[in-house]
Amino acid sequence: MSSTQRIWVTGASEGIGLGLLKHYQRLGWQTLGSSRSTQGPAEADHWIPADLSDSAQRAMAVDRLTNEFGWPDLVVLNAGVGHWATAAETKRSDAERVLELNYWAPVELTRLLAERAEGRTLHVVVISSIAARFGQKKLATYSASKAAVALWAESVHEEWQGSAHRIQLILPGVVSTNIMRHSIGRDGQAIGDRAGVHHGWSVERTAQAIERATRTRRFAHILASPGVRFALILHDLCPSIFYVLLRRKP
Ligand SMILES: NC(=O)c1ccc[n+]([C@@H]2O[C@H](COP(=O)([O-])OP(=O)(O)OC[C@H]3O[C@@H](n4cnc5c(N)ncnc54)[C@H](OP(=O)(O)O)[C@@H]3O)[C@@H](O)[C@H]2O)c1
Repeated sequence: MSSTQRIWVTGASEGIGLGLLKHYQRLGWQTLGSSRSTQGPAEADHWIPADLSDSAQRAMAVDRLTNEFGWPDLVVLNAGVGHWATAAETKRSDAERVLELNYWAPVELTRLLAERAEGRTLHVVVISSIAARFGQKKLATYSASKAAVALWAESVHEEWQGSAHRIQLILPGVVSTNIMRHSIGRDGQAIGDRAGVHHGWSVERTAQAIERATRTRRFAHILASPGVRFALILHDLCPSIFYVLLRRKP
């Protein structure tokens, strides 16, 4: 029997997901990736194309994963989409697209995998965001989707106490990817060239930090500077001061 470990990463065609494939391939893992792209990057040993905002395609992806490639040792539910519009401008149809991918995809993929576990251990890592922890202009829908998936994962963590399954939550701060360019704007289209500068941790550093997190027993991991972590504590303890400072930020 092969002892090679196997990882499945969703949203692996670029950004953090691609960084994870690269990192785990370097560590000698067998890498499986998914996104809507029909062809995967070289860093994926196997590719399962799927639009994970579609329920039928989620089931198809899990079927292919488990039937064709074998049980994954680690699943990183990373596929996500941004949304950039005021609450008043937000169309219900756009909010539903965001929630389908950012909330329902991790929820259903985890359920489908747990149903097929049959005594095997499931280790799921859910990628949320620090945006789940406080309110920001034009990010109400995105933040709500990330907060929903974070509290869902925390609840599953409680349900799985005493079982062999594990779930962990990652809350990245800003990571240098094209997420803003891909974000849905108020017209329902990707923002593209209208996106502002989005500069933060490299995907390599983020992938390393996620991998390190999976080797700990801790449930939630914030990937951000000490200053950002302190700001989140300030938000919880004294939100009025937190928001005064946030509004002063350029
Ligand atoms: N970058 C940041 O600053 C940041 C901060 C906090 C949290 N996050 C979270 O980290 C995750 C990855 O973000 P990123 O910055 O790497 O974003 P990204 O560069 O925009 O990559 C998004 C990935 O998701 C895939 N994807 C989009 N729609 C999909 C769909 N319907 N079905 C399947 N796959 C789909 C994309 O591939 P295709 O287009 O080929 O489908 C791509 O591989 C997201 O959940 C994001 O919310 C990012």
